[in-house]
Amino acid sequence: MEYRHLGRSGVRVGELSLGSWVTFHNQVNLDAAVEMMSAAREAGVNFFDNAEIYAKGESEKLMGTALKKLGWRRSSYLISTKLFWGLNDGVNEKNTLNRKYLLEAIDGSLKRLELDHVDLIYCHRPDPNTPVEETVWAMHTIIESGKAIYWGTSEWPAADIVAAIEVAERHHLHKPVMEQPQYNMFHRERFEVEYERLFREYGYGSTTWSPLASGLLTGKYNDGVPEGSRGSLPQYSRLLEKLTDRVLLEKVNKLTEIADDLGATTAQLAIAWLLKNPNVSTVITGASRVEQVHQNMKAVDIVEKLTPDVMEAIEKVIA
Ligand SMILES: NC(=O)c1ccc[n+]([C@@H]2O[C@H](COP(=O)([O-])OP(=O)(O)OC[C@H]3O[C@@H](n4cnc5c(N)ncnc54)[C@H](OP(=O)(O)O)[C@@H]3O)[C@@H](O)[C@H]2O)c1
Repeated sequence: MEYRHLGRSGVRVGELSLGSWVTFHNQVNLDAAVEMMSAAREAGVNFFDNAEIYAKGESEKLMGTALKKLGWRRSSYLISTKLFWGLNDGVNEKNTLNRKYLLEAIDGSLKRLELDHVDLIYCHRPDPNTPVEETVWAMHTIIESGKAIYWGTSEWPAADIVAAIEVAERHHLHKPVMEQPQYNMFHRERFEVEYERLFREYGYGSTTWSPLASGLLTGKYNDGVPEGSRGSLPQYSRLLEKLTDRVLLEKVNKLTEIADDLGATTAQLAIAWLLKNPNVSTVITGASRVEQVHQNMKAVDIVEKLTPDVMEAIEKVIA
């Protein structure tokens, strides 16, 4: 596995990482979590992604317990959490990046993770109702307190990220160093166009999500919604429209043909394609079972097969 700098920071992340959205607590129990995290680590993963809101705090608890069982040296891996949505309904406790919420929420996350710090902390969405100065100062305070090491944004408009960087520079505060955006073959505009200046001018890092568009880019939805898949989970029915979109499924079929020619799976092709982009610091993969982790980690071996001709063939399908 290649290790890439997280933007202009000194820390390096494996080009593939593993996240826990949907899966931990809902589909993955403690034994499976331990098995999957071990498989990822054996493949070279050093970053595991989490968020306060995942399974309403239960995902952090599960990852924390798994880490205890695994007993890895703390300095050998990175853990994240993300704050914004909140776990409580109070007026200052949800859909916010206010200072009070952030400073209290990080303590809750650390307690659930049973850690004294996370390595990466994200503002999980932008909050137009809190001045960016307040959020930047709060993130700076969290980092100075030792409860997190680097901070970043998730799905923020590029202009808001630039504003946050400028506030931090003006006041000599810790700057955000990475964004966590959705990026996959079917979701490209923001990463490739809107964020282009962030990567070029600010050397912003990126930890990208949903590399397989929730499983669509594996080909598993080509003949309907498989039982037990993400698309079959009632609480994620909002994903179904895209997972069963005829036009997208036709494209997936064509991608499968390209993958077959390379001796790869469609999932591996989709992940390797992301790794060709130098603005990606790490691709956060997701998996509901260990076999998927094994398969997805092998995507790193496919990257060299993505010659300019192959990239052009892919582009013709997904453009
Ligand atoms: N910042 C944000 O707002 C945000 C949002 C979403 C996600 N994320 C992060 O990004 C991570 C990855 O996102 P994601 O889970 O949506 O990634 P994804 O790769 O698009 O989807 C992962 C799902 O696809 C299926 N899958 C994966 N590999 C497969 C394979 N080889 N064969 C067949 N099916 C396979 C599994 O679902 P089934 O087996 O259940 O079908 C798996 O849970 C999350 O865990 C989270 O850490 C962040």
